Amino acid sequence: MIGHKYSMSNIERFNKLLNTTSYDRYNSWVDFRNEIDALLKSEINGLKSKRTMVVIGAGRCEDFSLKPLVEHFGTVILSDVDDKSIFKSMEYLRLTDEERSRVQVVKVEYTGVENNGFFDGLEDRLREARDFEAIDLLFKKGFEGLDDYRFLKEFSGEADLVYVSPIYTQLIYQQIMLVCSKLRSEGFQENLLKYVEHVSGERLIDVFTLFNQNVGRIVKERLVVASDIFQDYSDSTFMENAKKDFSDDNMEQIYKEYFESYGFGMGDLGLYLLNESMTLLKEKWLLWPFDERSEMVVKLSTYKK
Ligand SMILES: C[S@@+](CC[C@H](N)C(=O)[O-])C[C@H]1O[C@@H](n2cnc3c(N)ncnc32)[C@H](O)[C@@H]1O
Repeated sequence: MIGHKYSMSNIERFNKLLNTTSYDRYNSWVDFRNEIDALLKSEINGLKSKRTMVVIGAGRCEDFSLKPLVEHFGTVILSDVDDKSIFKSMEYLRLTDEERSRVQVVKVEYTGVENNGFFDGLEDRLREARDFEAIDLLFKKGFEGLDDYRFLKEFSGEADLVYVSPIYTQLIYQQIMLVCSKLRSEGFQENLLKYVEHVSGERLIDVFTLFNQNVGRIVKERLVVASDIFQDYSDSTFMENAKKDFSDDNMEQIYKEYFESYGFGMGDLGLYLLNESMTLLKEKWLLWPFDERSEMVVKLSTYKK
């Protein structure tokens, strides 16, 4: 394995770009954020201790309100590969020096593949791949030894509350798909690209399992996970139907039908795997007006250790 190398890593560069937008997320996400805040507040009220809270995928800190968290906890750990967005948000949110002194920003890469150099020159390495075996080897090397990959290990069993921002759909897959689409536009062999897509999908189970294990290890009492399950244009038939009756019962029914036809997506696969290692207490469906044109349907799940 290659050691830590943090100039600007591939995963950091990719996510920093995704976190850069002119869309006024902060104001557009107010209802979504209020719902997340309300659930976090009710969990905070029931905690035995309020020493430490950890946020996973904090990014621009726009899907949750930072100030109330800092009010309640001795220390709030904000983690993300894109630490610069976190620092920017703290200026924007005008934290006082005292509040700021209780926030710790930790730059973390959650999958471990950056350490393995998986994304280093990935486009060129795929371009050189002539057959399925070459692709298998590339993935094998990129993911080897990851069972032992640990993040935020200094906080093992320390976080009274952990909040995971929507992230499963952002872990590696989209970034590999972007490389595939570049190669596709160059006329790269379609059967090999299809194979890369297939192998990437299969790898997600390991990536999510490792991520969930690392998150679970940090939790002392409660874990709240937001996961985007559906994404579509705001005016699509799917979204219009969902918004007509956005009750938990109706969303469960829509999800059931969708699952029967298409199987797992990434957001629900992450939660499904998490349900195997943590005790699920409750779930709620939320609408997330993601950008100017599209919306997401998010499942917010609460777990106890
Ligand atoms: C959809 S955003 C969540 C919204 C975010 N809380 C906000 O308000 O901007 C997901 C976050 O996960 C981070 N992320 C994605 N992949 C990551 C990885 N492999 N390691 C660490 N952070 C990652 C991104 O940088 C991004 O900030």
